[in-house]
Amino acid sequence: MGRKTIEKNWPFLIHPTITVLLTAGFQGRDTITPIGWIMPLSGEPPLLALALKETRFGYELLRKSGEFGINVPSFNQAEKVWRCGKTSGREEDKFALTGFSREKGEAIKAPMIKEAIAWLECQLFEDKPFGDHRLIVGKVLRARVKEEVFDQNYQENFLPCLHLRKNLFLTTDWATKIAAGEGD
Ligand SMILES: Cc1cc2nc3c(=O)[nH]c(=O)nc-3n(C[C@H](O)[C@H](O)[C@H](O)COP(=O)(O)O)c2cc1C
Repeated sequence: MGRKTIEKNWPFLIHPTITVLLTAGFQGRDTITPIGWIMPLSGEPPLLALALKETRFGYELLRKSGEFGINVPSFNQAEKVWRCGKTSGREEDKFALTGFSREKGEAIKAPMIKEAIAWLECQLFEDKPFGDHRLIVGKVLRARVKEEVFDQNYQENFLPCLHLRKNLFLTTDWATKIAAGEGD
């Protein structure tokens, strides 16, 4: 079997990643920025990290306001996710574009997305440049979930919007429970 070297598309070898919708607002302007490069960073204190390009309107707004929302969409919202990723909030109102509704958060002023299935309200904790992206670390001030999804059938009800590459999304339609070992 042969092997080939790939030049620039290597990040997609570590996809699919869960796609979230970052919301940020400042002085009456707001936006929804889809983010695929995100991960939990610390349990205590609760921190998450994401990679964000400086050119995104979402970056400008979270820098100015010092806070942002992470809204978890479900797979059936993939088309709206895609549309949010094709335009900038500088030119278009993404809530009007998608039909998503603004909802007040409990801990931050940035608008949250009512139709999401989980919500993390974050305070900007760290912001550093790394190559062509910035590493944004958020402190999670409030985490909430939709009860109907995150119940005892969690693995069946939670259909995340996973981004494979370009306009290709997928979700899970099964889950495997590994035989429990010591301490599980
Ligand atoms: C599925 C998907 C994942 C994306 N992931 C990221 C990401 O992790 N970081 C980033 O800077 N941009 C990412 N983008 C691109 C931005 O979402 C896109 O440029 C968006 O239009 C920026 O909007 P804004 O200018 O209103 O912030 C992603 C786009 C899509 C569709």
